Amino acid sequence: MDLRVLSREDIFSPRPEWRFEPEAPDYFAMYSSLWGGIVKDPALMLIPLDDHMVHRGDGIFEAFKCVKGHIYNFDAHLSRLENSARLISLNLPFDLETIKEITLKTVAIAGVKDCRIRIYVSRGLGNAFSCSPVDCRSQLYVVVLKESVPPPYYYTDGASAITSCIPTKASFFAQVKSCNYLPNALAHLEAHEKGADFAIMLDQQGYLAEGPTQSIAIVDHQKIFKYPRLDNTLKGTTLLRAVALAEELVEAGELKSISSSDISREEAYNSLEMFAFTVGIAVVPIVKYDEKVIGTGKPGPVFRRLLKLFQRDYTENRELLTPVPYDEVANG
Ligand SMILES: Cc1ncc(COP(=O)(O)O)c(C=O)c1O
Repeated sequence: MDLRVLSREDIFSPRPEWRFEPEAPDYFAMYSSLWGGIVKDPALMLIPLDDHMVHRGDGIFEAFKCVKGHIYNFDAHLSRLENSARLISLNLPFDLETIKEITLKTVAIAGVKDCRIRIYVSRGLGNAFSCSPVDCRSQLYVVVLKESVPPPYYYTDGASAITSCIPTKASFFAQVKSCNYLPNALAHLEAHEKGADFAIMLDQQGYLAEGPTQSIAIVDHQKIFKYPRLDNTLKGTTLLRAVALAEELVEAGELKSISSSDISREEAYNSLEMFAFTVGIAVVPIVKYDEKVIGTGKPGPVFRRLLKLFQRDYTENRELLTPVPYDEVANG
């Protein structure tokens, strides 16, 4: 094997071979606090290997979206970021207002109206690859990615789920949106290998907790919208939004009430409807769980109402939509 010593030019050439699809990148822009600026060339979207987020998973993140030029539910994501940082004693490198401004500018420079955005806060560089975070200075990375389009059958026919055999994270760790996603990744792989769309991890007591990147809820036989107690899961922003939106269904008599409580597998098997929630999919009906047909086996009425309410929220709920300053950036 020919192992050459490579130069910067070899690695950062305009068309580096190691960077797939250099002509049609899915990655539009990245901000790095290390450089204090934004890059648009995917080959430059790098994080140093000695950042503790890379070699120890010591970092946190948020994933959210921009719809028609407006970031949706931005404050909920910033407040969850702040909470994750507090839980793991990670000092944010900037205050939340500054993180917001940097993120909005990065999206504006990316120049796309519909996209995904991720904010990472890492423990930072140094300490010669040791585990110790002591004296590390945290860093901020923001990336703007191509919009993801869920498979259409999720919404027309419904999705399937299995119970995962991967143990879920202990309560404290489940509540931090950290860069430790190994159990989640393994549960995702398990679903894939078993031909299911989602894997649902159980909490330590054997109740439904969450999917690798999805919150879960059901409508039980009394028409109660039930979601797991949130002390064993990440507090999903989409689920919490669905809970607020579902109040309309309670008022209209389409749901009896909304409650957060333990959900057993038996209860889920016998539910009228079952759902998965996450930013990228909004709400998806689960029509088969562990080979058991849920409800009629077709997307149900509560799903259809919630999806409509989400679609309205994405475009009309000014309180949750933060405009991206494209013009400011274009005008210098
Ligand atoms: C473990 C986990 N649970 C739930 C969710 C759903 O959270 P949100 O609705 O904020 O996307 C996610 C999101 O990626 C997640 O990673």
